Amino acid sequence: MTENIIWHERLVSRRERNLMNNHRSGVIWFTGLSASGKSTIAHHLEKKLFDCGIRSYVLDGDNVRHGINSNLGFSREDRKENLRRIAEVSKLYVDAGIVVLAAFISPYREDRAYVKEVVGVEDFFEIYVKCSLEVCENRDPKGLYKKARAGIIKNYTGIDSPYEEPLKPDLTIDTVKLDLEASIKSVLSFLVDRKFILLV
Ligand code: ADX
Repeated sequence: MTENIIWHERLVSRRERNLMNNHRSGVIWFTGLSASGKSTIAHHLEKKLFDCGIRSYVLDGDNVRHGINSNLGFSREDRKENLRRIAEVSKLYVDAGIVVLAAFISPYREDRAYVKEVVGVEDFFEIYVKCSLEVCENRDPKGLYKKARAGIIKNYTGIDSPYEEPLKPDLTIDTVKLDLEASIKSVLSFLVDRKFILLV
């Protein structure tokens, strides 16, 4: 497909953008069950980073599936394609100097490994937002677990579609035990420890 398409070199490099911004770019990837807290943590973190002068942007399943991925559902193939596109979008953001806060269930290890490969190992941090199915189901903010249990929605992650826990996440946040503030603190300390960000 790309046979007659020639790559156009840029005049501004990612390194120059990172230097101008005074921070690195990269992808903080939140994975976990629906209602585990991924998007809430990502959005609050975005606000916190913004207030510190760090350019970041949340990409999450619910929003992205209204636009660029509105033609995709939740079959194995569609979930793969969902993340393939997100991997490419994330890579562009990283090149543009942005910290991507990606919140996708991303239930398959294979797909998460693929995203990591596309983005680049050194620019990708996997955060497992851990929460038992029982608690997620009790939270059920969108009423979707209820619909899945009633058989109205098929292939719902955790009900009749698998979630493969990360084997070696860079960080695990247990949202059964940690409240929002503690969860954000945990991610921020992790990013500081890894020298991804300097402040806070
Ligand atoms: S992923 O599996 O492809 O990574 P993604 O994060 O984009 O999922 O979208 C998940 C969101 O879509 C959930 O938070 C939920 O609101 C909604 N959703 C609707 N149907 C399903 C389903 N069958 N399985 C999981 N999530 C679903």
